[in-house]
Amino acid sequence: MRPLLELQDVNAFYGASHILHGLSLRVDPGERVALIGRNGVGKTTVVNTILGLAQLRAGTIHIDGHRIAHPRPYVAAQYGVAVVPQGRRIVANLTVEENLLLGGATHRKGVWNRQAIYRLFPILQERAHTPGTALSGGQQQMLAVGRALMSNPRLILLDEPTEGLAPVIVDQLADIFNRLADQGTALLLIEQNLSLVVRVAHRYLAMAKGAIVARGEVDGSPDGIQHLERHILL
Ligand SMILES: Nc1ncnc2c1ncn2[C@@H]1O[C@H](COP(=O)(O)OP(=O)(O)O)[C@@H](O)[C@H]1O
Ligand SMILES: [Mg+2]
Repeated sequence: MRPLLELQDVNAFYGASHILHGLSLRVDPGERVALIGRNGVGKTTVVNTILGLAQLRAGTIHIDGHRIAHPRPYVAAQYGVAVVPQGRRIVANLTVEENLLLGGATHRKGVWNRQAIYRLFPILQERAHTPGTALSGGQQQMLAVGRALMSNPRLILLDEPTEGLAPVIVDQLADIFNRLADQGTALLLIEQNLSLVVRVAHRYLAMAKGAIVARGEVDGSPDGIQHLERHILL
């Protein structure tokens, strides 16, 4: 099977700071993969390198078989990889609807359009003409997910999507992520919330110091969760 996303021996930098050290990972179509690790190990930098926001200095990135020599945000989206960024990054002076439409700039064909996203998240239609940043944190996260779906991705990178959200909102998002995965969208879920990881992901990759240091099946038993915790706790 052709991987949707493959990083091989990636070394990435911010200026002179060397953050990713020979990192390799692969996500196949329809997979549900969690990427875990302590704060500061470089999880967001993986996303930033795929988007061209951190500098790829060695190694290769392939998206759906295409070698991405010069990563850019729109290049990832064109080849079917959408990002729900850490902190959501809702554009402050655009309305909810305008933020949503930003995600559709690639014009990839598929089931997702504005109407379909309003059916998934009715609150976004109710608030369509208010500034995006006037929404609650949970609603902004829904907007960030909707914006990603607008590009009809085959893989969504979710960077700490439940950070700072109330448990009831986390439950709603977990249902949505499972529904998307059941419909065949692959997920790379970067999360510290292990209850979400065990509800959504089937496989995990654990990072330390800018590389993958462990991987395996996600096991939701108490022992399994304790095993995952070791990669997150200080
Ligand atoms: N824009 C940046 N410029 C320089 N260093 C950065 C920048 N963003 C993050 N870093 C550093 O890169 C390392 C990895 O950060 P990050 O990828 O955000 O980790 P994580 O997402 O796992 O918490 C940290 O040491 C952080 O301080
Ligand atoms: Mg991060």
